[in-house]
Amino acid sequence: MSRTIRAFEPAEIHAGNRGLGNDHDSVAGAVEKLLGRMSLEQKIHEIHGWQPSAIEGLYYAGGDESLGIPSFRMVDGPRGARTGTATAFPVAIARGASFDVALERRVGLAIGLEVAAKGGNVLLAPTINLLRHPGWGRAQETYSEDSFHMGAMASAFIGGAQNHVLTSPKHFAANNLENTRFEMSANMDLRTLHEVYLPHFRRCVQEAGAASIMSSYNQLNGIYCSEDPYLLTEVLRTRWGFKGFVESDWFLGTRSTTESLRAGMDIEMPAAYRRAAEKLKDALEAGEIGEQDIEIAAAHALYQKIAWDLNNLPVPDAGVVECAEHVSLAREVAEKSIVLLKNSPAMLPMADQPGLKLAVVGNLADMVNLGDRGSSMVTSSETTSPLAGIRELVQQAEVVHLAEDADLSVLSEFTAAVIVTGLTYKEEGEFIPTAQIETEQSELARGGDRSDLKLPDSQRDLIRRVTAAAPRTIVVLEGGSAIEVDDWLDDVDALLMAWYPGREGGRAIARVLFGEVNPSGALPVSFPRSASHLMDWDVTALDVQHDLLHGYRYLDQHQHAARFPFGFGLSYTSFKADDLHIERNGSGFLLRVRVINAGDVAGACILQAYVGYPDSAVDRVPKELKQFARVELDSGESASVELPIDDSQLCYFDTGSDDFVLENCGYRFLIGFSADNLPLTAQWNLTDADWQAQDD
Ligand code: GLC
Repeated sequence: MSRTIRAFEPAEIHAGNRGLGNDHDSVAGAVEKLLGRMSLEQKIHEIHGWQPSAIEGLYYAGGDESLGIPSFRMVDGPRGARTGTATAFPVAIARGASFDVALERRVGLAIGLEVAAKGGNVLLAPTINLLRHPGWGRAQETYSEDSFHMGAMASAFIGGAQNHVLTSPKHFAANNLENTRFEMSANMDLRTLHEVYLPHFRRCVQEAGAASIMSSYNQLNGIYCSEDPYLLTEVLRTRWGFKGFVESDWFLGTRSTTESLRAGMDIEMPAAYRRAAEKLKDALEAGEIGEQDIEIAAAHALYQKIAWDLNNLPVPDAGVVECAEHVSLAREVAEKSIVLLKNSPAMLPMADQPGLKLAVVGNLADMVNLGDRGSSMVTSSETTSPLAGIRELVQQAEVVHLAEDADLSVLSEFTAAVIVTGLTYKEEGEFIPTAQIETEQSELARGGDRSDLKLPDSQRDLIRRVTAAAPRTIVVLEGGSAIEVDDWLDDVDALLMAWYPGREGGRAIARVLFGEVNPSGALPVSFPRSASHLMDWDVTALDVQHDLLHGYRYLDQHQHAARFPFGFGLSYTSFKADDLHIERNGSGFLLRVRVINAGDVAGACILQAYVGYPDSAVDRVPKELKQFARVELDSGESASVELPIDDSQLCYFDTGSDDFVLENCGYRFLIGFSADNLPLTAQWNLTDADWQAQDD
């Protein structure tokens, strides 16, 4: 009897999520009562951070002992607690590649627990800006180029983390370029904003009950997001019903005293610059703001302090930090996020046996490469490099490390070479405008966007030298986004994308190379054959026009086949999908598909359902992801996979009616294992609320 697997179970994902189920009226009443006891100074103290620098790694905001009001104690970030040492998980885009929402909930639980154990109560995560172009410096910090996929992963993370601490999805909104992030304007029409750049934030607010939101540095259509009343009040509160607070990004995240307050940005971080008491009092005296404007912002902060009973938030034992369970989880995540992109017959997995003479080549092989050194940085007390991981696992084969400057002609005497190459914090990362040069010791590095997607010349030269000498070559790529591989792909026998795989990444890479783990990751970002197949990308731009197209949507529209498409990943086994059934189910569809593991080892695949809109009367993208499920099967096993798609997911944003509309047109369902491999199709047509299946 085959099992039934469902895509996303909200009850499981949000179990224990303290951001859901609050009694709004009771909390609002308590806030009102408390405000009535507060002086103007006490209210002002609630709407800004304490000081520019962190106090033992935490950024404080608000609080008043005399009134029993706790302070917010905020800390980054998306891959672990950025204070002291903590479990350094694989970066978010690696977790995105797992397409495993249950796993992402566990990551959120673990990071939330460690943050709480360190005295924090607000986790400044997840980062959910869409990967509009793979050159974005903070690509590693987000989950995906696709809004639906992003929303599912982020909701799962919040569902876990908010068992322990408040979260703060960021950066609201359209922070998609790094080098000019403080000044640039992301320009787009309302349809693009609501259909592409906001749905994942909306899901975090409405489904996951995100306790706060961080506004972004950039402008949206010429208005700084931290002072945009449309974003912060009309959309976030009036349309979505958000009850939490908005904190600014740090320093330049607040650009004004009056405009930011009246727009709905509640707490200036990390300290009182524009929100300094004298500036607020000047604005009061000048009649630019009223005391009620200050009171509204203070009320938003107090709301969560009362709703979460922040004074009594449990503080776990310090022993949970980097505990064995979290370390083991970090390895499991790294294993499930590795994407097998190429595997010539019989190259991988390798067998650890006498006679195998393996060269592990490259400086990155013997280096810790956890990701960028911006605000998402995590310091791990232990890490395992790929070389260390291979040496620890392999008992019978001979393993030799060759640095990049070694004489590689010796490779002809080896069975195969594994090159560990890719990017580091020097090539990509959060843009920190520090004059500090990158050194191994520096805590910070300039980071920034990548203006092209190729590997550094030194790494492409290394691959050329190795493939010229070694009988067979495996490339393990580390990095936070798509990398152009076309100029050397044909010369290598196997290729893995390992991302920045966290503290246990070396062990995970070794276990995949030697078959202890069957790779199951799938790309959360399209790898183009050439950057010229993507939209124009200018890392100095101050005005950037956004539209409905990017990633696989752009490649589809411009008929450029990806080198490796969104959702693509190979396995050591093979999977088939058949027997598609689609039925109406309440306010949407339920798709059922049979998936079979047709190979001879256990494994997992990512079943994906996209929708296209034949004969739509408005511009629509060729197709877009609307559901996915990770399916783990033993050899020969099959399962019935259920993929729910609600009608609300099929709407487009109609600027005329200023709302989402379900159009009378055809809806083509395409199901398979990547954006370019969708063998199962079916169409339903909608005419005035009447759905009819079309015989294909
Ligand atoms: C940064 C980042 C933001 C981070 C904040 C605090 O500039 O943009 O993501 O949470 O500072 O470190």
